[in-house]
Amino acid sequence: GPMGDGQSLHDSSSLQIFIKAKKKINDIFVEIEDYVLDSVTYVQSLQRERSIVNSDDAAKVESYIAKAKGIRDVLTRNHMKVAFFGRTSNGKSTVINAMLHDKILPSGIGHTTHCFLQVEGSESGESYLVTEDSTEKQNVKSIGQLAHALCKEKLGENQLVHIYWPKDKCVLLRDDVVFVDSPGIDVSPNLDEWIDRYCQDADVFVLVANAESTLMLTEKNFFHKVSTRLSKPNIFILNNRWDASATEPEFLDQVRAQHMERAVDFLVKELKVCTQKEAHERIFFVSAREALQARLQEQKGLPAHSENKTITHPYSGGLADGFHNRYFEFQDFERKFEDCISKSAVRTKFQQHSQQGKLIVADVRTVMDRTYDRAQQLRTEKAESKKELHEKLNFTEQQLLLLTQEMKDKIRQMVEDVEQKVSKALSE
Ligand code: GTP
Ligand code: MG
Repeated sequence: GPMGDGQSLHDSSSLQIFIKAKKKINDIFVEIEDYVLDSVTYVQSLQRERSIVNSDDAAKVESYIAKAKGIRDVLTRNHMKVAFFGRTSNGKSTVINAMLHDKILPSGIGHTTHCFLQVEGSESGESYLVTEDSTEKQNVKSIGQLAHALCKEKLGENQLVHIYWPKDKCVLLRDDVVFVDSPGIDVSPNLDEWIDRYCQDADVFVLVANAESTLMLTEKNFFHKVSTRLSKPNIFILNNRWDASATEPEFLDQVRAQHMERAVDFLVKELKVCTQKEAHERIFFVSAREALQARLQEQKGLPAHSENKTITHPYSGGLADGFHNRYFEFQDFERKFEDCISKSAVRTKFQQHSQQGKLIVADVRTVMDRTYDRAQQLRTEKAESKKELHEKLNFTEQQLLLLTQEMKDKIRQMVEDVEQKVSKALSE
């Protein structure tokens, strides 16, 4: 069912669109590199024949080795990036933990996020962190250690700490999604710098709002800034802490409708980043804390919500039980998010490179065509001069033949003359 097997469900997820595209474009660039290398070897072998390849063409083809390699390096480093923003204590770190199915980031009282934390998959299977101004890998075995390491670093709010977490522990990390957690936007004066430093290459933004209140001006202003710097950013709005609404079920629908309307207006009319219909696929009412709790339970092999024993089937009684609805909506958010981030990342990360790949191939082809034409031309020229030479030779030969014939005749004449003279003299 959709509740229990969240992890295996992801195998067919749309994140694979990005993974497959990345593999494909990488393979293509391996071929392009081969092609360029072959062309360079060939062009170099022709270097002696200056008239066939000019040095500009040769240099151009050679420059594509570094270019193709550079693009390949960028491609292998590419990933999908999601950045979380919102006012302090709205539950940004908790949302990330819920999506990662584990308590990785410190959250809650005393664990306010002070700087930018980027969580990504670790190739080696170890967990460690690296601060911005050092290359040292600091091992972190537990959330306690991580929190401690982050505290002792005395990090500024503009700093970035990379957290590497084993890929096998989390599908989203395995599938190349990188999470960026941030300090509350209400506590920082450096929003512009933040956007420039951490948001330029983000594929998706998640605004973690508090469902207990309306969207705040600070939250709105931040995303106004984002959307002036990036064209049509993909923004999701999570109305978090929706579990709090369960205490007042009589107002639930009304509150939800009001939040929804305002959030839709914000995305559609204010930011103008999506259509009315799209906006409804971008706004969710969730409880990150419950979702995380449920996943930790599932991890242990227990049902998602063991406290609620009145429910026999998750969906029959689901509507009455807020938890299941909220958890379902959280999973719905994840699916829409995955779809959005992988499509966006394919477009923004690969489109430009695939165009450059085409350009390289076309350019090398032009040089090769030109080389071929020059070689053809040279061949005809040589053949012609050979023909001329041949004709000249024939003529000389004939001349020679004539000449020798002439000489032979002359000599015979002379001999005959001499013979005649001698015999005449003798007879006299
Ligand atoms: P800062 O890093 O300080 O900016 O906060 P944050 O946005 O990362 O919030 P964090 O995830 O640390 O959560 C703050 C507190 O809210 C924690 O005690 C969470 O357990 C709690 N919390 C998070 N999500 C929910 C939720 O959906 N419902 C409820 N009731 N509490 C939540
Ligand atoms: Mg936090």
